[in-house]
Amino acid sequence: MKVAILGKIHQDGLDYLKSQNVSITEINDFDDQNSLSKISDVEGIVIRTMHLGEEILSKCSKLKIVARHGVGYDNIDLDYLNKKKIALAITGQSNAVSVSEHVMTMMLALSKNIFASDKLTRSNGFEYKSDLQDFFELYEKNILILGFGRIGQALAKRCLGFEMEVLVYDPFIDNKKIISSGCKPVSKTQGFKIADYISIHLPLNKNTENLISDDEFKLFKKNLILINTARGGIVNESALYNALKSNKILGAGIDVFEQEPPTQNHKLFSLENIILTPHNSALTLECRKRMSLESCMNIINFINDKSSLNKNNIVNLSNLNF
Ligand SMILES: NC(=O)c1ccc[n+]([C@@H]2O[C@H](COP(=O)([O-])OP(=O)(O)OC[C@H]3O[C@@H](n4cnc5c(N)ncnc54)[C@H](O)[C@@H]3O)[C@@H](O)[C@H]2O)c1
Repeated sequence: MKVAILGKIHQDGLDYLKSQNVSITEINDFDDQNSLSKISDVEGIVIRTMHLGEEILSKCSKLKIVARHGVGYDNIDLDYLNKKKIALAITGQSNAVSVSEHVMTMMLALSKNIFASDKLTRSNGFEYKSDLQDFFELYEKNILILGFGRIGQALAKRCLGFEMEVLVYDPFIDNKKIISSGCKPVSKTQGFKIADYISIHLPLNKNTENLISDDEFKLFKKNLILINTARGGIVNESALYNALKSNKILGAGIDVFEQEPPTQNHKLFSLENIILTPHNSALTLECRKRMSLESCMNIINFINDKSSLNKNNIVNLSNLNF
């Protein structure tokens, strides 16, 4: 069996493929048409974040499965895969812990004014600690989680550990599940008005693009900290900039951008009340190992051993002759 790996993955997945006698083609330069032509006879593709559209997919006549190294798949032409009955897999078991820990890190660092405290300490400002702006506990604060899937649920557990009030907006999840998880279902508007923290964990699509824009910022409390580790475009960046610049909200943590990578003169870079990370909330060593192995196992199990396949990982199962 031949498998293409588009983008660098942890060695654990490559070792696993080798143990299954797979011939591997690794490609890291996606502008090189020559190297992309080498994948025309692969049965499986593991893909990180590059765009994978019909122009490449249509050249792969033996392709049976595309395995995302991650859970979002807005970079893949799913319509084309469905038309050709090619499977699309995600690494559903891999990401939730790393991403939800990243959210906690951003919430804590922003709430506790960690960067300003560090700067003050290093600049001989120890005696001026009382001049720092107010900082806060998470204890008994309201967090609104938008999207109660794998990551939203993992975050809820961590927030409950900090004794926060966890509000959830997810119209596709039964309220009973939200309540039995120790959380409170709310409408979007109700949540927006009472949240001290909002964290976003839903997919980017036509319904969620600009979900948070100028009108929503008008509803928020002044002490709101907004975290987006889901996808750029769910929060409108201009509206976010204006809200932070005019102190309409307290702060934000952003791991994902409307355009990635963002331009060097991106206006959010000029603000102090925001933490920015380079779409790396799922890139802890543990998570990279899990995503690498799970994406490769999705391919092998789908092609060779369907009884071992985690069917929840196959996004378009109902479209396949399975
Ligand atoms: N920053 C990163 O590196 C990183 C890593 C992993 C995942 N992600 C992103 O995080 C997001 C969540 O991932 P997940 O694994 O938890 O996904 P998931 O599919 O398990 O959960 C998504 C949840 O969103 C809900 N939802 C969908 N549309 C909604 C809407 N309009 N309003 C409210 N709820 C809605 C669904 O019902 C579902 O419960 C995805 O966008 C994914 O791409 C980012």
